[in-house]
Amino acid sequence: MRDPKIGEILVQPDQLQRRVRELGEQISADYEGRNPLLIGVLKGAIFFLSDLMREITCPCEVDFMAISSYGSSTASSGVVRILKDLDAPIEGRHVLVVEDIIDSGLTLQYLMRNLGARRPASLEVCALLTKPERRAVDLTPRYLGFEIPDRFAIGYGLDVAERYRNLPYVAALQE
Ligand code: IMP
Ligand code: MG
Repeated sequence: MRDPKIGEILVQPDQLQRRVRELGEQISADYEGRNPLLIGVLKGAIFFLSDLMREITCPCEVDFMAISSYGSSTASSGVVRILKDLDAPIEGRHVLVVEDIIDSGLTLQYLMRNLGARRPASLEVCALLTKPERRAVDLTPRYLGFEIPDRFAIGYGLDVAERYRNLPYVAALQE
């Protein structure tokens, strides 16, 4: 008896696992000897980040930020607020922001400007998912898991009103 709100599966567990491993290999090669700092954007990205970090073979560190974007609605307001900031300064660090999904890109655009002003040595993005049809700002992540169609996605960290983060796959929300 599956929850009727869980619609079509967009990314299967084995596809997630394979792609996360590939991204980890790519990041390990690119950041060799640079001790990158992975910044996870709470809460959605922690599922992806914890899997990704275990596929990275070079020394690396992690920190977290919490920002508010949508609240419990499913449409972007463009208003971003920092709810929890990083524990430590990032000046001179090689920073890799890990995001669950880029939708309009407004949240990430704000975050990149904010982090860029703290003078990191480098600043890149690794996003699990993107909805290219919805992009409102010019922003291309250096590392990307999957492009998905313009559907509200749930699972593998993605929520609707805080639910469904624990699904082991990414599905479309059945509205
Ligand atoms: P953006 O500012 O429109 O790019 O939205 C980014 C944030 O909104 C993401 O980090 C998610 O937290 C949330 N979000 C956007 N699209 C979805 C979705 O399809 N499912 C769940 N959360 C989403
Ligand atoms: Mg998020």
